[in-house]
Amino acid sequence: MEDLAKLEQEFQARIDRGEIIEPKDWMPERYRKQLIRMISQHAHSEVVGMLPEGNWISRAPSLRRKKVLLAKVQDEAGHGLYLYCAAETLGISRDEMIDLLHQGKAKYSSIFNYPSLTWADMGTIGWFVDGAAIVNQTMLAKGSYGPYARAMIRICKEESFHKKQGYEIVANMAKGTPAQRKMVQDAVNRWWWPSLMMFGPPDNNSPNSAELLKWKVKKNTNDELRQRFVNMTVKQAQAVKLTLPDPDLKYNEETGNWDYGQIDWDEFWNVVKGNGPMNRERMEAHRKAHDDGAWVREAARAYHAKKSGRNAA
Ligand code: 3HC
Repeated sequence: MEDLAKLEQEFQARIDRGEIIEPKDWMPERYRKQLIRMISQHAHSEVVGMLPEGNWISRAPSLRRKKVLLAKVQDEAGHGLYLYCAAETLGISRDEMIDLLHQGKAKYSSIFNYPSLTWADMGTIGWFVDGAAIVNQTMLAKGSYGPYARAMIRICKEESFHKKQGYEIVANMAKGTPAQRKMVQDAVNRWWWPSLMMFGPPDNNSPNSAELLKWKVKKNTNDELRQRFVNMTVKQAQAVKLTLPDPDLKYNEETGNWDYGQIDWDEFWNVVKGNGPMNRERMEAHRKAHDDGAWVREAARAYHAKKSGRNAA
């Protein structure tokens, strides 16, 4: 018992000195479990996040828009693979992570349970959802677990392209025809509040934050990041003369922040619990893609086994 306490003490001292923890380093079981939970859910989010946007690739309004959206969706797939690899360094297999997702024991981001109804959603998702991801992920890139932080550095570079292409769509539609303006304002109205919910529950109801902050996996709280996103996005909305759907949005001279209205946490928990507008469809699509891809996994395993001279598992 004494040894374990000593190991935990030394581990915490490493974290406090700002050292990076690598896969082969000793770590508390709880640290490993928290990282597996967070990284695998992040990976699931990247993959499920391809669905709302994939829905518009064949309906993009121009070849250029189609190419850009294709590139973005392919990036998200790559982010998922990166993050599954980062999670595997903690001793969990890809199959286990996928099984936990399909059993409802692992989550993906609530934001991807909303429908992408018009082309303007492609712009608004890039602007809000990838914008929120950048705020969150630039923080995670400074986290204490090496493989996760390094994955974030590559991913953040691509996220900034995702946000820029989205904001360009929004800006063009906002100065387009009245119908285009109406379409993009409608998308902003539908995606604004779910995007604020992406940052997680309020700090007074975030059971994982204390540990994640102690171990410097998270460097800021959910509310701090949410506020950073609001402050940045209000100015961008003003620049394209779009209205954010929050009558309580007000600049606070004292704090320098934009105060915002009450988030509907019942809606958030309802979506997290699986009762959002698209939860069922998203999981059905994920299960079908997984089943349809079984032959690829078997072929790759057989090839690998042959190459390494072992029987296929
Ligand atoms: N959607 C679904 N579940 C959520 C959630 C959300 N937006 N926010 C919180 N939760 C869940 C948590 O997973 C936790 O449940 P669990 O213990 O069963 O896992 C519970 O609600 C309580 O939340 P906490 O605040 O205690 O949880 P965390 O401290 O883990 O904070 C988080 C939540 C901010 C999402 C954090 O996990 C995180 O930063 N994760 C990494 C980033 C990530 O996953 N982003 C998802 C978006 S991916 C993306 O944006 C792709 C881009 O390309 C568009």
